[in-house]
Amino acid sequence: MKDTVRRLEKTVEYLRNITEGMPEIAIILGSGLGRLADFIEGRQEIPYEEIPNFPATTVAGHEGKLIFGRLGDRYVVAMKGRFHYYEGHDMGVVVYPIRVFGMMGIKNLMVTNAAGGVNTDFKPGDLMLIKDHIGFFAENPLRGENLDDLGPRFPDMSAAYDRSLQKLALECAQRAGIDLKSGVYSYCKGPSFESPAEIKALRMLGADAVGMSTVPEVIVARHMGIRVLGISCITNMAAGILDQPLTHEEVMETGKSVEQKFSSLVREIVGSWE
Ligand code: HPA
Repeated sequence: MKDTVRRLEKTVEYLRNITEGMPEIAIILGSGLGRLADFIEGRQEIPYEEIPNFPATTVAGHEGKLIFGRLGDRYVVAMKGRFHYYEGHDMGVVVYPIRVFGMMGIKNLMVTNAAGGVNTDFKPGDLMLIKDHIGFFAENPLRGENLDDLGPRFPDMSAAYDRSLQKLALECAQRAGIDLKSGVYSYCKGPSFESPAEIKALRMLGADAVGMSTVPEVIVARHMGIRVLGISCITNMAAGILDQPLTHEEVMETGKSVEQKFSSLVREIVGSWE
């Protein structure tokens, strides 16, 4: 386990030496939401394969890079291409970048993702502020010997998504004329989409959206005391709600069609982050 910390230190040292300073906010760009990176000025793009000990993206055609630069007047780092459990990665790999951000000293994380709508009041193209999550079906990323240097054995998750940042996000949405829903994000491991019965069960448990990322990253961020804000893009209605099959193409297409709305909301939020 000390080995993990040493590996992280090497990654952090590399990034510190080649970047301008410490970003205020790390932003994880979900599938189809990568265009936000185009708004980052003075971009310094670092492919994952150039970063010591950083995991490599396994999926052909998927970009993997960290982008350092200014979004408005904030120095940020955006992560284009994340690591999913369904790709076969261990949880330690899935959450590695978050630990790197934490060890760099970054105190704020904005997570975004594409998700299926479980709440039948939602429609594809909606944006949802994540109020809380359900993740207990999956392996906890903190399983194993605790990394005491990073955080406590039993971290609190009672307010995983920072309440003041939620309020700020809702205010920003209102200012930008964007209808921002809010709800509970439920994590499923994938890669198959869920069955209609699973979606019905998740709805009964209180889920509003479902996706294959985010929860492990948020748990690890909270372990390190990083403040988290999460936004889902509802790219499709979850299985069984509409009488039609689910496809990855639908997810990517909706993601593309809301990219503009999504990136203006994110820019507004980053600009007013406090
Ligand atoms: N289920 C799981 N993950 C997803 C979905 C979904 O319906 N849509 C986008 N990511």
